[in-house]
Order: sequence, then C-alpha cells, then structure tokens
Amino acid sequence: MRTCYAGQVSEKLQDQTVTLMGWAHRRRDHGGVIFIDLRDREGLVQVVCDPDRADMFKVAEEVRNEFCLKVVGKVRLRPAGTENNNLTSGKIEVLCHELEVLNPSVTPPFQMDDENLSETTRLTHRVLDLRRPYMQNNLMLRYRVAMEARKFLDEHGFIDIETPMLTKSTPEGARDYLVPSRVHDGQFFALPQSPQLFKQLLMVAGYDRYYQITKCFRDEDLRADRQPEFTQIDIETSFLSEQEIRDMFEGMIRHVFMKALNVDLGTYPVMKYADAMHLYGSDKPDLRVKLQFTELTDVMGDVDFKVFSTPATTKGGRVVALRVPGGASISRGEIDAYTEFVKIYGAKGLAWIKVNEVAKGREGLQSPIVKNLHDKAVADILSRTGAQDGDLIFFGADKAKIVNDAIGALRLKVGHSDFGKAGGLFEDRWAPLWVVDFPMFEHDEENDRWAAVHHPFTAPKDGHEDLMVTDPGACIAKAYDMVLNGWELGGGSIRIHRAEVQSKVFDALKISKEDAQVKFGFLLEALQYGAPPHGGLAFGLDRIVTMMTKAESIRDVIAFPKTQRAQCLLTGAPSNVDEKQLRELHIRLRNAAAASGAAGA
Ligand code: AMO
Ligand code: AMP
Repeated sequence: MRTCYAGQVSEKLQDQTVTLMGWAHRRRDHGGVIFIDLRDREGLVQVVCDPDRADMFKVAEEVRNEFCLKVVGKVRLRPAGTENNNLTSGKIEVLCHELEVLNPSVTPPFQMDDENLSETTRLTHRVLDLRRPYMQNNLMLRYRVAMEARKFLDEHGFIDIETPMLTKSTPEGARDYLVPSRVHDGQFFALPQSPQLFKQLLMVAGYDRYYQITKCFRDEDLRADRQPEFTQIDIETSFLSEQEIRDMFEGMIRHVFMKALNVDLGTYPVMKYADAMHLYGSDKPDLRVKLQFTELTDVMGDVDFKVFSTPATTKGGRVVALRVPGGASISRGEIDAYTEFVKIYGAKGLAWIKVNEVAKGREGLQSPIVKNLHDKAVADILSRTGAQDGDLIFFGADKAKIVNDAIGALRLKVGHSDFGKAGGLFEDRWAPLWVVDFPMFEHDEENDRWAAVHHPFTAPKDGHEDLMVTDPGACIAKAYDMVLNGWELGGGSIRIHRAEVQSKVFDALKISKEDAQVKFGFLLEALQYGAPPHGGLAFGLDRIVTMMTKAESIRDVIAFPKTQRAQCLLTGAPSNVDEKQLRELHIRLRNAAAASGAAGA
C-alpha cells in the first residue's frame, strides 16, 4: 500500500520511510546515480537510486518514461543549492531502497512536458494527455467547482433530482440530437438541450428547490466556448423574485470562486440589455476593456457621405464611433488589418479619424472621410467622443446588428492587443456582471416572424403582457444572464406560471393551439393545477472552469471532449454501425457511400 502521494511528500516527512506509486515522469542517469521524477496526480518527487543497492539499481537502469512504479525509500533533505521551490516536494528527495516496475510502458508518442502539442495529437492520445499535470489540475479544479456548487445548493435547501436523457425535443433553439426508437418504428427520442421543461414540472409538483449537474446536448456550430455535449449546473426555485434569484446565485458563484480559486468577485454590477447593446454592441460585454461606443446615428442623417447618412436615416440602421485613446500611433498597416478584421462580421469598411490637434478643428484631423462631413458633424464627433489629441476614432455604419457585431469585436480586438494592454485600455481583473431586461422577442427577418430571445416559457415584465400582442418588439422579459470577462456563464428567467399568459406567448410566436398542444401539452396541462410562481437559471460548468483556468478552449476542462467537428478522436465516434443494427431501428441510409461504410463496419 502507498503511504502518501508522491506530490505530497515534503520536509515534514524527513527521515521517514515512504511507499509511493506513480509514473516515471523523467529519468536521468548521472553516471553512477539515477534520478527518477516520480509523478502522480498530486505532483512530482525526486527519487534517488544509488548503485550501492545493486538489485534496486538494476531495476532503475531499466526504467523508462511512463513506466508505472512502486518506490520504497527514505525522505531526506536535498543538498543545499539543489532545492526546487516550485514543487511541494522541492526541498526533499526520496533515497530509494526498493523499486518495483508495476507495469512497463511503450515509448509515448510525445514528450509529456512538450507544451506545443497539436490538439489533434492531444485528443487522439487523450489518456496520456490527461496524465499531464496541466490536465490533472484542470480536472481537479473542475471537481472542486462542482463540489462547492453542490455544497452551496445543499445548504440552501436545493435537492438533486435526475431528469431523462431520452426525451422529447426541448425548445432551446439549437438542433436536436435524435435517438431512433427500436420499439416504435419511425419515432425518435431527442437528447435534452436542457432539463428546462422537466424542472418546471418539478416546481408544479411541489419540489420547490431543484438542482442538477447534468449533461445537455445541442447540435450547433462549435466554437472555443461550445461543445455538443456540455454540463449545466441547472437550477429552479419556486416563490422567489427575479432579484432574490439573482442575489442567491451571485452568492453561489462568489462562493465557488472564493473556495476553488481564492478570488473575491465582489458585488456584480447590473446592466440593462439595452445599455449593454448601446455602449458595447454586445449582450455579454467584456468590462475589462475600457472602450465604449459613442452613438452618432441621430447626427449623421444629413451628411454628404452615404456610408453614414443611409444607415442613419434607415430603420434598423446605426452609426457609432469607437474612440481609442492614444490610438493615433496605430499605423496605417494596422488600420488596414483591422478593416479586414471587421469584414468577418459583415462590415463593408472601417472609417477612421486620427486626432492630431483637437484645437485646430478639422485642420487638426487626419482621415479619409472628414472631407465628406460638414462642420457640425465633425464638431459632434469630437465633442460626443470626448476626443483628445493623439486619439484614433473608428466608425461603424450599417444595419445595427452588423455595427454591433463588427465594432463590438473590434473593441475587444483593440482592447486585448499589445497596444491596448500597454495603453491601459485593458484591466487585468475579474469583471462579472448581470445583464437584465432582455427583450421577450427578436424579429426573425428571414421568416418574418417573432422568436423568443430566451425561451418561450419566460415571463414578461409586469405590465408588459399586452405588449406581447400589440408591440412584441417593445416587450421586456424577466430574463437575466450572468457574464464574466465577456463570456456568458449562465442565464435564466422567471417563468410563466399561468396557462393563459403562456397561450399569449405562443400566439405571439405564431405557434398554433394544435402545435402547442402537440409539443408542450404536458406543460400547459400542468400549469392548470395551481402551478406556483417559479424561475431559475443554468450555468455552464465547462465555461466556469475554463474561465478559472484561463484555458484557451473549453476542451481543456473536459476529460473526453469532441473536436470542433463534433468527433471524438479517442474512440472514433461517431462511426458506422452495421446493417443489422440499422434494420432493427427501421433506418435505411440515403447516402450510398455511407451505407456501404455501414455494411462493411
Ligand atoms: P442557456 O441556453 O442560456 O439556458 O444555457 C445556459 C448556460 O449553458 C452554457 N452553454 C454551453 N456551454 C457549452 N457548450 C454549449 N454548447 C453551451 N450552450 C449553453 C452557457 C449558458 O449560459 N434552460 C435554460 C436555462 C434556464 O432558463 O434556466 C438554458 O439552457 O454557459
Ligand atoms: P468609400 O467611400 O467606400 O471609399 O469609404 C470611405 C471610408 O469609409 C473608408 O475608410 C472605408 O473603410 C469606410 N467605410 C466604408 N463602408 C463603411 C461602413 N459601412 N462603416 C464604416 N466605415 C465604412
């Protein structure tokens, strides 16, 4: 039996005999003495093998990287000058008495401490990748976060109730993963996009405070912060107001950050959705970046420059400026690169003004567009942005969505650049906030209809019920998102608990009575039996841990993630299945090539 973890041996155990089990992280032969860094999940310890114990030394000579070893030895202080302050075990070493190879290893396909491995290599050899201290720390932190959330929820009377994985499609807005039914020819289960409807049913059933740390499945385009299966800390409660829910779960995330990371997130600022869009062009602003939009739509209608005047006078258009303090030192080449960058978001160009000397008015400006602007427009730009000598002002003019996306992305790009960091435009801190007062509906241009911004069970603000029919675009929801450093960590809402309000929402969304009955009949029925006022929210566990570790991708905090192309490189899923399985499921493949792949599998 092991007496302790290798990574936990310290000077407190000096002169004691320890038994350790772990892996040979590195073996160094110093002509006569062999050093083995023994690694387990808690860290490394240096094991010294002296030739005076001949049997043991012979074994040490055979050891190679990643062999699984048992070491019995005596803890002693390292010779002065050879300590390693980065390790818990850095002041000591273990003088080896007995060494046993529990299992040898073939040569790993990469150096375990190579920090430049491709993600493909890491995901293909995930087991070895998971052995690395980086991944071990990430997964242990993930465990602590989940554990602290559970403790908080338990202390606040929340109970963990499981909900089905084989279920009916839920309206979270992404594509479903479907599972064919063998028993019912032609019918399918959907994997849950979230437990949304079940948790509401649990409220109607009187469980009052529910939570679950559970997998959700969404077949959507993947990004650094998205996986097709991901984990939510999912929560629902009865009888609490929006404010009470926000306070409680701000407290939970504060607790988790304090316990798992020793970081105090403090009290979160609260920002209305409309203000977030107005100032940052985003409903999840990264407040570490100190740049803000300046609205110019109302003053650019009469300029002799169509790029500005058209959106300023067209419904749904927007013109904004982004003042970059000190930005006059940004080169033309860099401005060209930013211009290419905003095109990714649909912008047609990126107008700019370098402010050399404000006092000189138009003479003090350098810009491809100032010649097109009359004096008042120039004066409005300078006064509204608060321009100072040495600034650069960028402009976005287009449909509001394009301006928000393009200049919003530019704001982050400039803020996070070396220039932004050196110029004090970026504050290295934790920047949480609540975004509240989301609109109930957004207009889906393609299909000319209204769609729910959060989901169709979200309640309107008190007094906004009638707007759902008369002016859907002006109707505000009791919905809220928690944002941290520009990422949406979680979101939720107060739900509709009266069947007649729920019907109005379906009307606004043009979901017919029949359709509503087929899709959500079980919810509408439940709402009739004295459903309590209720609400909740869900946090993305993967995202919380990614933020905490400052990992570049959510995949670095998931043991066995999917690639950007929704594949598991380790197991090779998804894969063909054999014809017999398909036949049992009443499925014939449309694509002949895929079908022959299936037959050959
Ligand atoms: P929502 O769809 O906003 O709300 O999801 C809640 C949180 O889950 C995380 N998340 C994801 N994480 C990784 N990969 C994904 N593909 C992904 N999609 C979402 C985000 C997000 O904030 N039922 C509602 C919650 C409620 O109203 O109570 C829901 O699922 O961190
Ligand atoms: P043009 O009149 O197309 O030569 O554009 C003059 C300047 O306006 C150039 O600097 C363009 O990059 C910029 N520009 C063009 N379209 C837009 C737009 N939609 N928003 C902001 N700037 C633009």
